[in-house]
Amino acid sequence: MSTTNTHTTDSARLRWGILGTGLIARLFTADLRLTGHHVSAVGSRAAQTAQAFADDFGIAHAHAHGSYEALVEDPEVDIVYVATPHPRHHDDALLALRAGKHALVEKPFTINAREARALVEAAAERRLVVLEAMWTRWLPHMVEVRKLIQAGALGEVRCVLADHTQLLPQDPAHRLNALELGGGALLDLGVYPISLASDLLGEPESVQAAATLKETGADTETSVILRYQGGRNAVIYTASNAAGPNRAAIIGTTGRIEIDPVWYTPTSFRHYDATGRMLSSFSAEVPGRGMQFQAVEAERLVRAGELESPDLPLAESVAIMATMDEVRRQIGLRYPSE
Ligand SMILES: NC(=O)c1ccc[n+]([C@@H]2O[C@H](COP(=O)([O-])OP(=O)(O)OC[C@H]3O[C@@H](n4cnc5c(N)ncnc54)[C@H](OP(=O)(O)O)[C@@H]3O)[C@@H](O)[C@H]2O)c1
Repeated sequence: MSTTNTHTTDSARLRWGILGTGLIARLFTADLRLTGHHVSAVGSRAAQTAQAFADDFGIAHAHAHGSYEALVEDPEVDIVYVATPHPRHHDDALLALRAGKHALVEKPFTINAREARALVEAAAERRLVVLEAMWTRWLPHMVEVRKLIQAGALGEVRCVLADHTQLLPQDPAHRLNALELGGGALLDLGVYPISLASDLLGEPESVQAAATLKETGADTETSVILRYQGGRNAVIYTASNAAGPNRAAIIGTTGRIEIDPVWYTPTSFRHYDATGRMLSSFSAEVPGRGMQFQAVEAERLVRAGELESPDLPLAESVAIMATMDEVRRQIGLRYPSE
C-alpha cells in the first residue's frame, strides 16, 4: 500500500476571481483558501450576493462585484474561475478572455463542440490560458493510474467501465433538469466517465447511446458505448435519478485497476494481475474536496507561459464535447441555446 501526503503544493500564486457564487464556486473557493491560493475577487449578478460570498471567504468588499463584467475588469484578478450553468460557460469565459484574463471553466467545458472550438480559438488569439475544470484529471489517484498504465502495468487497455450516478433534485425548474440551464445527467455527470474514457482510450471511432428523458426533455438515465480502434470499448452509465456504485474499472490484457467509489473524487485504487492477485494499492491524503489540484495546474501553465495542459489538451476538451454532441443527437436532446 502506498500513501501519499499531498497537502503541500508549489506554484506561483495567481489572483483568482470567482465568477458566479453557487454551490461549486463555494466548494472551489474553500479548497483554494484551505491550500493557500489567493482569491482576490468575486462577481455575481447581484451585489448583495457577491458581498455575502466575499464575507464568507475573506474577500475585501471593494472586490465583491455586482456584475461579471466588473469582476473581469478588476485589475487585481489574473485568472477567472467560471462557475455558472453550462449554457453560460462559453460567454462567461469569453468575457474573461476579452478582458485579458486567463480562465478555468467548469465542466462541461461548453454546451457543445462548436462553442468549445470558439472558446479555444479566442484563447489562442489572445495567448491566454483556458482550461476545462475537469478536476478529476489532477487528483493524486488519477495521476498514479496514468503512470501505471504508461508503464505498461495493464498490458494493452481494452476497456473502461464507469458509472456516474447520483440521486439529484427532481424539481423540473432545477438547473439539473431545466433545458435552458443545460439540464441533464449526461452533461453534468456523464461528462466524467466520458472524460475518463477519453483520457485512457483517446477519441472513439463510434458512439452508441440510449437514454430515458424527463418530462422537461433532459436526460435522466443514459447508457453510452464507445468503440475504439482495435475493438476496444468504454461502457458508461450515468443517471440523475438514483445513486449507483460510482466505481471505475480499467481492464487491460495483463491486469486491471479498480478505482474505489467515488472514483471521480479523491479516492483509492487497487491494481490486480490477470489472475486476480492484487499487486498494489494506492491511497492519498487530500485536503478539502480536492479541487485545488486543477488550480495548481492552471497556475503552472500561466507561470510557464504554456497555453494548454498535457493532462487535458484543448483538442481533447473539444473532442469530449463532440462525443457528447453525438450522444445527444442519438437520444434526441437539444438545448434551446443551440
Ligand atoms: N466540479 C464539480 O464537482 C462540479 C460540481 C457541481 C457543479 N459543477 C459545474 O459548475 C457549474 C455550476 O454548477 P452549480 O451546481 O454550482 O450551480 P448553482 O449552484 O446553480 O450555481 C450557479 C451560479 O451561476 C450563476 N448564474 C448565472 N446565471 C444563472 C442562471 N440563469 N441561473 C442560475 N444561476 C445562474 C449564479 O451566481 P450569481 O447569482 O452569483 O450570479 C449561480 O449561483 C455547472 O456547469 C456544473 O456542471 C461542477
